[in-house]
Amino acid sequence: MLWIGTSFKMTKTRAQAAEYAARLRTEVGRDGVPGVQPFVIPSATSIAEVAAVLGGDSPVLVGAQNAHWEDAGAWTGEISVPQAADAGARIVEIGHSERREHFGETDATVALKVRTILRHGLIPLLCCGESADVFARGDSVEHVLGQVAEALDGLADTSRVLIAYEPVWAIGEHGRQPRPDEIADVIAALSAKWGDRVAAVLYGGSVDQSNAGTLLRVPGVDGLFVGRAAWDVDGFLSILATARAVVGG
Ligand code: 13P
Repeated sequence: MLWIGTSFKMTKTRAQAAEYAARLRTEVGRDGVPGVQPFVIPSATSIAEVAAVLGGDSPVLVGAQNAHWEDAGAWTGEISVPQAADAGARIVEIGHSERREHFGETDATVALKVRTILRHGLIPLLCCGESADVFARGDSVEHVLGQVAEALDGLADTSRVLIAYEPVWAIGEHGRQPRPDEIADVIAALSAKWGDRVAAVLYGGSVDQSNAGTLLRVPGVDGLFVGRAAWDVDGFLSILATARAVVGG
C-alpha cells in the first residue's frame, strides 16, 4: 500500500477546497485507487467541508495540519484533536518544519501530541527532517532518527503512525528536488528502525509529477506527502496515477 497525500497548507477558501474534494470524489470514485491510500489535509476552516463533500465512506482520508495536545481549554487560536475529529479529520499532522520554524513546535510538543492523537484513535502524521546545515555536515540520519525517537520512544503501539521524512532543504518554493541518493540513507535508516512498527514511511519535499515515480522507487519509501504540486487537483490525480502504476509494477 502506498500512501499519497497533500497538505493545502494556508491556501484555499472553503469553496475552493470543496471544489477540489468534489473532483476527487468523482475521479477516485467509491472504490478508490487500487493499492493506494490517498489523503488530503486542508486548512482547519475547510476540514468539515472537504469531509462532507467526500462523504463518510470515502476512500480518501481527511486530515488536520495541527492540533493541540490538550483535549480542551484556554488555548486561544488552537484546535484540539477531538475538534479535528468532530470536523471529520482521521489524520493529524504534527511536527512540520514550518511549524517547528515559525510556531515553536518542538520534539517535546510533538511527543505530547502524538500521544493525544493515538488516544483518540486518529492517525498521527509525524513530520521529521534535517536543515540544509545538518545535511551538509552529513548528520541527517542521526538528526532524523533523534526527532522520531523523541516522538515515539516509549509508546507501546505505534502501528497507526505515519512518518513523513521531509528534508527542510527540499520543502517549498526555496527548496530543491532531491536526487534519490540524497534521501536514500535517511529513508533506509527510518525503514530499518521503524518500518515494522509504523504504518508507513513517506517522503515529502518538492515532489511533483516529474519525480514522483522515481521517489516512490527509493527502497523503503511507502508513499509521498505533497505540497504545491498537488494544490491543483489534476496535479494530485496525476501523482495518484503514478503511484497506481508503481504498485502495479
Ligand atoms: P512542497 O511539495 O510544496 O515542497 O511541500 C512539501 C510539504 O511540506 C508537504 O507537507
